Amino acid sequence: MKLLKTLACSALAVFTVFSAHARPLAEVQKSGTLLVATEGQFAPFNFFNGTTLTGFEVELAELVTKKMGLKIQWKTLGFDALLTGLRQDRWDLVIASHGITDERAKAVTFTAPHYCSGGMIIAMDPAIRSSKDLAGKVVAVQTGTSYLENVQKVAAIKEMKNFPTDVDARSALNSRRVDAWVTDRFVAKAVVDKNPGAGFKLGEMLFIERIAAAVAKGNQQLADAWSKALADTMADGSYTELSKKYFNEDVRCN
Ligand code: ARG
Repeated sequence: MKLLKTLACSALAVFTVFSAHARPLAEVQKSGTLLVATEGQFAPFNFFNGTTLTGFEVELAELVTKKMGLKIQWKTLGFDALLTGLRQDRWDLVIASHGITDERAKAVTFTAPHYCSGGMIIAMDPAIRSSKDLAGKVVAVQTGTSYLENVQKVAAIKEMKNFPTDVDARSALNSRRVDAWVTDRFVAKAVVDKNPGAGFKLGEMLFIERIAAAVAKGNQQLADAWSKALADTMADGSYTELSKKYFNEDVRCN
């Protein structure tokens, strides 16, 4: 019995040492700084302009945290590491264009959505527009994304190629190593606008999704505080102003 107890105690001790806990709202408020992770390779949402991290989500997060009375400290990492890091309590919140999916919602807690969008097909060949046109084609997507899941469902494709960043997936299309690329519709639009001569053709949307920030599973008070501050930016005109600056339209979900 005593041995069992000792074992249980040391197991608990090991657990406490190796599993940090998600910082609840009160603790974040006490420190005054919200630790936010993003990717920084998904323009116009989160990207580097030279050495400066910027984008719609970066500026929006700055507005939201200001409303929460907090400073923000950024971390940038590979897309794949972002949600996992929440579970290890390496940062408080992730904002990197994650679509709300049932699978992800098992592992993290999503806030209210900050925009609505979907996966769009882009190709060089104007004949490749819809999911049925992807039959027999090679399609590029970023690893770990909802694009991957949804392209997988298109049974007739020849092959799906995964890339560590969305920028790599785009380059594969640009150099015609693949027939099509599936990415966010606003990312796609921005690429076409910025490179009018490159020959990218926008196709149809493959699916739609609601995009939200995420916190560690069950860190509900922090999620709620974020969602409330986000709602405030949507009510006071600052969200609309920012959205128009990046997209010439208001991209909130309605
Ligand atoms: N919206 C897509 C998803 O939910 C793609 C997100 C990609 N974000 C990024 N920062 N590369 O998976």
